[in-house]
Amino acid sequence: MNCRGEMGGLVFGRVRLPPNREVGTRIDLAVRREPHPPLRRRPLTKHSRRNERIRRLTPPGSPWIARVDRVLLILFVAALAGCDRLDMYDQPRYEALEASKFFGDGLSARPKVEGTIARGALRDDVPFYTGRDGEQPVSQIPAAAYRAVYDRHPQRFDQPFEHIEQSRLRMALLERGRERFDIYCSVCHGRTGDGDGMIVRRGFRRPPSYHIDRLRQSASGHFYDVISNGFGSMASYSSRIDAGDRWAIVAYIRALQLSQNATLEDVPDDERENLARPEVKDASARSKEDVK
Ligand code: HEC
Repeated sequence: MNCRGEMGGLVFGRVRLPPNREVGTRIDLAVRREPHPPLRRRPLTKHSRRNERIRRLTPPGSPWIARVDRVLLILFVAALAGCDRLDMYDQPRYEALEASKFFGDGLSARPKVEGTIARGALRDDVPFYTGRDGEQPVSQIPAAAYRAVYDRHPQRFDQPFEHIEQSRLRMALLERGRERFDIYCSVCHGRTGDGDGMIVRRGFRRPPSYHIDRLRQSASGHFYDVISNGFGSMASYSSRIDAGDRWAIVAYIRALQLSQNATLEDVPDDERENLARPEVKDASARSKEDVK
């Protein structure tokens, strides 16, 4: 509607005053039909274009329903049709930890049925998961530790597990162990296991060196147990290091112990002469050269 009271082609509010009007004279309101004034061309916006289309489709006098924007109508009908979906969307349910009147204990969260084991969480390999065989700590690294290091990155091995040489698996286990040891343990125990890590140098209680006789003679299962359950003032690492990685660390600690107490007899024959050769450099120098 514009300021003249026009709406479409109807003029309904034009006031005619008689020529010599006196106060109190009745004023006749004349309502009459006038032809639509010619449309002024305005630049078409998206809206005015749509309005014009509607106007063309609905000449004056067509029923009101024809004037309703069809798009709106379709949306409205679609929304009505969608209503029965809400029932499924908004089903009766409990929020997490909500109280329940249905169960005797008043809880909506149900306890696990006793003896239930989540898929993939069966821990039937007792030595692998506890480091013990009965009461005794196991002395060997369990076979499942090799499987675990393979399963972590099977794409690094170009063969199925069954075909891989034992020495390759052992190397992979030690490398994984070194990486985890350097991350989690060396800060206190030192890179070589002497017990002089940075945290100890800054005042934390000094752990025993891995190279004392008692720890060299301890069973591998003892180290697994220390990582899993902690020991004295050392905390448990079970939440950060899974069973496979714990065994990898144990394997690496055993290698560290060997390395610090090795004699010439421990070096394989064909490697012995390399020890004497001056051009064989230590590992760190060699890796620096690799980078270049
Ligand atoms: C925050 C420092 C710290 C970190 C990190 C740490 N330890 Fe310890 N660890 C200690 C201290 C301290 C002791 C000595 C505890 C005691 O005797 O009360 C100890 C003792 C040990 C012992 C000797 C147990 C014995 O029989 O005497 C082993 C084995 C061991 N840690 C393994 C590990 C391994 C493996 C890791 C890495 C997963 C690790 N520790 C990480 C501080 C640490």
